[in-house]
Amino acid sequence: MVMGAGAIGSLFGGYLAKAGNDVVLVGREKHVNAIQKKGLTVRDGVEYVVKVKAVTSADQVETPLDLILLTVKAYDTRQAILEIHELIGDKTTLLCLQNGLGIEEIASDIIKNPLRGVTCNGSMLLKNGSITHTGRGDTIIGKRDGIITQKMKMIADTFTKAGLNTRITENIQGVVWTKTLVNSGINPFGALTRMKNGELVQVPSLKELMVRTVREGINVAEKIGITLEEDPVSLTIKTAEKTANNRNSMLQDIMRNKRTEIDFINGAISEHGRRSRVPTPINDVLTGLIRTIENKSYKK
Ligand SMILES: NC(=O)c1ccc[n+]([C@@H]2O[C@H](COP(=O)([O-])OP(=O)(O)OC[C@H]3O[C@@H](n4cnc5c(N)ncnc54)[C@H](OP(=O)(O)O)[C@@H]3O)[C@@H](O)[C@H]2O)c1
Repeated sequence: MVMGAGAIGSLFGGYLAKAGNDVVLVGREKHVNAIQKKGLTVRDGVEYVVKVKAVTSADQVETPLDLILLTVKAYDTRQAILEIHELIGDKTTLLCLQNGLGIEEIASDIIKNPLRGVTCNGSMLLKNGSITHTGRGDTIIGKRDGIITQKMKMIADTFTKAGLNTRITENIQGVVWTKTLVNSGINPFGALTRMKNGELVQVPSLKELMVRTVREGINVAEKIGITLEEDPVSLTIKTAEKTANNRNSMLQDIMRNKRTEIDFINGAISEHGRRSRVPTPINDVLTGLIRTIENKSYKK
């Protein structure tokens, strides 16, 4: 089951269903209605339609469930887990695939042993019932305690066989932090300037600020003992260049008057910095600016 079938949830659900897995998407009414009528349209080089079950509420899903993929925005995590709580049996694994820090803490408050994942795939909702696979990349899954289970191997294998290359890590915290630092150095800058990712790194003064933002996050991560996976600074520049034509998700949220994930990205880095006494002045300012724009615009 996919809880929160928007862009990324529909991509995973669509790929898994196409590969013959029994999938049900839980999403919002208009998207679900379109999928029920015509199937899920996936644009991925070519365009094809996948027949997949879709419902508007977790109450309509039959149990037992092997796997629940949580793909709501970070700020909807708690509410979504409360809605699916009853569906989680002894053999059900919850895999949280959102971006940002603090997701597994929220999940662990409510259920035992959630699995955390990070995906470098990109997806966009084109219209209700229709998504486009905007970028390919690995998905990495792991547990906070570093233990690797048979079930995790099965999940990685199922995803990979479905076309979503997936590997397991013993250092999921490091993977989550590394991706969050990259997001911290790209997303708010795109959202504030309305520039595409590739344009940001063309402006030397902006590029310098992006690097300083990521370095603040590295200082925090090091202070609290996180082992980062790669050098987040070069990864940030590389990612912005590789996704040069993309408007990042925070910019898209601002343009659609939606809430952003700032509190789970730069806001969370600032909060960790405050608690561990590492200064994060640029992250603090970025968080304040994005919250200001959000408060003016989003109507959730
Ligand atoms: N899209 C990507 O390329 C991508 C890549 C990597 C990671 N991610 C991460 O994945 C997460 C999801 O991103 P996304 O782009 O897929 O967001 P999205 O398109 O907004 O999808 C989330 C969907 O879940 C729905 N939802 C929220 N609460 C629900 C509930 N209780 N029941 C049913 N549906 C519910 C939302 O509806 P409403 O909008 O009406 O609330 C929305 O349709 C984010 O953390 C994002 O950072 C995304």
